[in-house]
Amino acid sequence: MADMPLTAPAVKPANPNFSSGPCAKRPGWTVDALANALVGRSHRAKPAKARIEKAIALTRELLDVPADYRIGIVPASDTGAVEMFLWSALGARGVDMLAWESFGEGWVTDVQKQLKLDDVRVLKAPYGELPDLTQVDFNRDVVFTWNGTTSGVRVPNADWIPADRQGLTICDATSAAFAQNLDFAKLDVVTFSWQKALGGEAAHGVLILSPRAVERLETYKPAWPLPKIFRMTKGGKLMEDIFQGATINTVSMICIEDAVDAMEWGKSLGGLKAMQARADANAKVLHDWVAKTAWVDNLAKVAEQRSNTSVCLVIADPEIKALSEDAQAAFAKAIVSRLDKAGAAYDIGGYRDAPTGLRIWAGSTVEADSLKTLTEWLDWAFAAEKAALKAAA
Ligand SMILES: Cc1ncc(COP(=O)(O)O)c(C=O)c1O
Repeated sequence: MADMPLTAPAVKPANPNFSSGPCAKRPGWTVDALANALVGRSHRAKPAKARIEKAIALTRELLDVPADYRIGIVPASDTGAVEMFLWSALGARGVDMLAWESFGEGWVTDVQKQLKLDDVRVLKAPYGELPDLTQVDFNRDVVFTWNGTTSGVRVPNADWIPADRQGLTICDATSAAFAQNLDFAKLDVVTFSWQKALGGEAAHGVLILSPRAVERLETYKPAWPLPKIFRMTKGGKLMEDIFQGATINTVSMICIEDAVDAMEWGKSLGGLKAMQARADANAKVLHDWVAKTAWVDNLAKVAEQRSNTSVCLVIADPEIKALSEDAQAAFAKAIVSRLDKAGAAYDIGGYRDAPTGLRIWAGSTVEADSLKTLTEWLDWAFAAEKAALKAAA
């Protein structure tokens, strides 16, 4: 490690926010972006409802959502969007649950331990890998996370999903939307939250439904009771107004305004393709650095499965890997805390349930230059922590 820097780089990342949620605000964002928020007004008032409709229209336009898919803004962030569909629609047929990291595992817990469905198959993979997608049975409902935020492993495409499936595909796309190619023809339910790739606010989720998902809601009634915030049908009919800006309960007009601002920014870049290209270029900065840096490695084993949003890294240095698990975790934490204290990088520790390491957001609201500078700080922090370890030995 003779070439590792022992003095801190002179320049800090222009924006040190690399959290995987809430993620960095778009470049140039200030609270002035919210100046026109319809605060103090009813969300049912005409101009407020028009703003909610605008957020829905921008979502359709930016993500290229088919015209016959419904888009709703719902309570409780991405979790709310996923759970309201699981609770409303599962149980009609068997379910295949795919899990390869913490959030996918959370949906398994919902379905097995809370809904207590009896016909559930769980297809699991360890952190860093995908389950065997050829084993999925699409005659059943299928629940999966497009981009596993806590392992940095994503499905590379939707080729493994047949167009003529019998079951529904229910996709938690919260850390994929606006950065990766969601193939809506293969997806019946798509959820996300503004707090990820848009750099928006949490609290509200977005729920997108295919016509077949709507048909399920209209023809199947689960055996369990549904709270009001999960209910999407009345008298066996979809409550269409939920998907036209008349939200189930009160929304924050500040969050709505912020989401509109973020999507207008995305449009101004050139839309979805431009947002994806920015995320790809950002992730490339990190992946190129990993490729030439001996002390760090990707948690995701297969290159095409590596996320371009939540990039998860492990420490590969043999001397650190030889330490106990606790000592390795302490070492990674020390790097994270050193960079936090220096004001060079915030919130880059691996997720609490994931293997020890680092997690760095690379979605389009982050600037490539900031990531480039971050890699210099990471090299410095690693070298400094290793020197400290040696000095203490
Ligand atoms: C894949 C995935 N699903 C669900 C969630 C939960 O999102 P929220 O807190 O917006 O409900 C997250 C948050 O990081 C996530 O990454």
